[in-house]
Amino acid sequence: MSLLITNIGELMTQDADATVLRDAAMVLEGERISWIGAAAEAPAADEAHDAEGRAGLPGWVDSHTHLVFAGDRTAEFEARMAGQSYAAGGIQVTVEATRAAGDDDLDALVRARLVEAVAGGTTYLETKTGYGLDVEHEARSARIAAGVVDEVTFLGAHLVPAGRDAEEYVDLVCGPMLDAVLPHVRWADVFCETGAFTPEQSRRVLEACAAAGLGLRVHGNQLGPGAGTRLAVEVGAASVDHVNHLSDEDVDAIAGSWSGGHHGTVATCLPACDLSTRQPFPPARRLLEAGAELALASNCNPGTSYTSSMGFCVATAVLQMGLTVHEAVRAATVGGALALRRATGEDVDGARAVGSLAVGHRADLQLLDAPSATHLAYRPGMPLVREVFRAGTRVR
Ligand code: NIG
Repeated sequence: MSLLITNIGELMTQDADATVLRDAAMVLEGERISWIGAAAEAPAADEAHDAEGRAGLPGWVDSHTHLVFAGDRTAEFEARMAGQSYAAGGIQVTVEATRAAGDDDLDALVRARLVEAVAGGTTYLETKTGYGLDVEHEARSARIAAGVVDEVTFLGAHLVPAGRDAEEYVDLVCGPMLDAVLPHVRWADVFCETGAFTPEQSRRVLEACAAAGLGLRVHGNQLGPGAGTRLAVEVGAASVDHVNHLSDEDVDAIAGSWSGGHHGTVATCLPACDLSTRQPFPPARRLLEAGAELALASNCNPGTSYTSSMGFCVATAVLQMGLTVHEAVRAATVGGALALRRATGEDVDGARAVGSLAVGHRADLQLLDAPSATHLAYRPGMPLVREVFRAGTRVR
C-alpha cells in the first residue's frame, strides 16, 4: 500500500545536505519513505493526500523522557517557583507513588503520555525506568515501557533510595537489578551529580551495564560543574544529558569525541527542564562551534519538566539559547536520532533510520498549520502540529 503526500509547501528534510524543498511531495510505502521530491514529478501511488501547502518536517525524536511514573509533584514545583532550589531528593516522592500504582494503571499512564507526545509531533521516543529503585519495580517499569515506547533505558541509578547504603545499592543495580531489566532495555543511564551518584559509583554502574551489552547514557553537569560529562565521553556514552555547567575541557571532550569520523557523545539539551529548575541554559552555541553534535529533548518527568512538547523545546532553544530554527529543528530530529544511534539504517540491528526524511528511512513526518518551521519559534506555544505520520501510519 503506497500513499502520496503532495502539495507540501516547504519540506525540511534534515537529510545530510539539509535540503529544503518547496512544493514537495513524498511517497510512503508501508513504514518507509520510498520517494521524495518535487510535487510536479511525483509518481502515482495507491492513495493520495493533499497537504494543502503546509510545512513538513521529520517527526520529533525525543531522546530523553521519564514517562513511567505515578503521582504528582505540584507542591514541589510551587515551592521551587517561590525560590527553593531543585534537589534530586524529590525523586523519592515519585518512587513511592509509582510503587503504589497497579500494573494496569501505570501502563495506562505511560500510554496516555505517549499519546500527548505524538499529538505534539513526536514520532520516536525514549523513556527511562528510575522511579522503581528496587528489583521488582525497576523490572516492572522496564517491561511496561518496552510495551509502549521505541527505546527503553535502565535508570536504576537515579537516586539512592531512602534508608539504603549507597555502595550496597550500587551492587544491587549492577547485579540482580540489571539482570531483571535486561530483557526489556537497550540503554543504561546514571545520574552522576552531587546528591545522586559519585563519579566512581557512576563508572561502576556504566561498566557493569556495558559488560551486559547495553549502550550508555549519562545525566551530567545539571546542577553544577562535575565529572559526569568527561566520564560519559570516556566510557563512549551515546549521549550526555543536561550539560548546563560545562568547563572548556568538557566542551572540548564532547567535541573531540566526534573527531576522525567517530560516532561520539551527543550533548543533549533539555530546555524545558532548565526553565523549571531555573538552571542556566547549556552553552549550545559554544558546543556547536567546537564541533559537537547537539540534541534537544523534553525530559518529560514529574519533577523538573512536566511537558513532552518538543515544539516548546525548539521555540525555547531559538528564543533563549541562541540557536537558529534550522539548528534547533536539527537537534530535535537528527540530534535525537544520533543520541539514540538511530540516525542511519546501519546503526543497530538493521532498524530503519529516524530523524530525517530520505528514501529508505522510517516514514515519520509532521505537517504544520504554518508555511514554514520558523513559525514554531515565531508563534511559540501555538498548537501548530496538524498531522502526524508515524512509521507510515497517520496517527493524528
Ligand atoms: O532529568 N536528573 C535526574 N532526573 C530527572 C529529574 C527527576 C525528578 O526530579 O523526578 C531530570 O531532571
